[in-house]
Amino acid sequence: MKTVRKILAIETSCDETALALVEVDISDSHITAKEIRSELFSQIDIHKEFGGVFPAVAKREHARHAPLLLEKMLEKKTAHGETETAADIWQQIETLLEREPNLFEKTKEVLLTNQKPDIDLIAVTQGPGLEPALWVGINFARALSLYWNIPLVGTNHMKGHIFSVLLNQQSIAFPALALLISGGHTELVEMNSISDFTIIGKTKDDAVGESYDKVARMIGLEYPGGPKIAQLAQAARDAGIHSGDIKLPRPMISTKDLDFSFSGLKTAALYKVREFEILNDTIKMHIAHEFEEAVTDVVLAKITRALESKPYQTLIISGGVIANSYLRQRLERLASELDIPLLLPKLADSTDNAQMIAVAGALESLNTKPQINPELQAFGNLSY
Ligand code: KG4
Ligand code: ZN
Repeated sequence: MKTVRKILAIETSCDETALALVEVDISDSHITAKEIRSELFSQIDIHKEFGGVFPAVAKREHARHAPLLLEKMLEKKTAHGETETAADIWQQIETLLEREPNLFEKTKEVLLTNQKPDIDLIAVTQGPGLEPALWVGINFARALSLYWNIPLVGTNHMKGHIFSVLLNQQSIAFPALALLISGGHTELVEMNSISDFTIIGKTKDDAVGESYDKVARMIGLEYPGGPKIAQLAQAARDAGIHSGDIKLPRPMISTKDLDFSFSGLKTAALYKVREFEILNDTIKMHIAHEFEEAVTDVVLAKITRALESKPYQTLIISGGVIANSYLRQRLERLASELDIPLLLPKLADSTDNAQMIAVAGALESLNTKPQINPELQAFGNLSY
């Protein structure tokens, strides 16, 4: 069996408004995904002043940018390409977008002046994520589905992160072990097929990305703190500065389960910060370095434990935190020592994007029968 899907995907679960056109080729033994176009607007600069993502602001910015990004991806209509749209379709679209009059007006303009893309499926993130933000993407996707008469499938954001590795020309052998590390999630997932997911371990409190962001804020770094802590920690390594007297705990590193806990590490970092009257750059580097070492040690220990529990055929690590170069290096070393194929997304596909939603949507469409304009709901806590 071979299925080729050309997909338009929409991602609005957090602070990135993202759209992508992707071709996904699925055969019995192999899945390949090729990006055709993608557009992304990052709201990070807008959320910085709040020190984190503010849902009402995220919703407003998604509504502003989704039709603008769509416009960039489409070809302009030629005059003779005009087609009539039934008045009741516009009525339905207006009702769908009634809480977002500006989104409706701009979407209508883009649809009237641009050609229908060459696609056979639309995929949209249904969750997990911020519900007000998710709803913008869902209603926008439903409007496009109605207007172009193209089926729509709801997609799980975390599955998107897992399948982001397929955009890197790699194939998954089962059973596979996946570790998801993002701003909202830290979980180990066992996959026995492309549609069989079981969470076998997760954080009891903070997610890895969240703890990076919180420790960053303690030492005066802007949101999102992950990349900034990583930079400081790398500067410390490059300068040969080690953590000195700053020692932080490695929570749950020796427990027999596959769960994580990072709130104790964050609190320990806070006590260290309070010990210093003035946080100079060297102290900040010490803290960032020791924090990153502690997180990395725990992550590697838990992966090792999980890999000992079953003969997994591939190891997948994804989610925004896998943009971290040091973690990538340590994981590559570990995978080669343990002789297991390691699948990582490309650096650019590590944080939120719509290409991964397209791949997950294509795979989801194998199990469901996508409809035109289905009654999709946003689920802030959607699980597998
Ligand atoms: O997957 P993602 O883009 O959004 C969520 O779904 O949460 O992940 C964002 C998280 C943030 O917490 C951010 O600080 C973290 O990923 N992050 C990093 C790095 N780049 C992004 N953490 C550590 N090192 C990085 N280089
Ligand atoms: Zn994400």
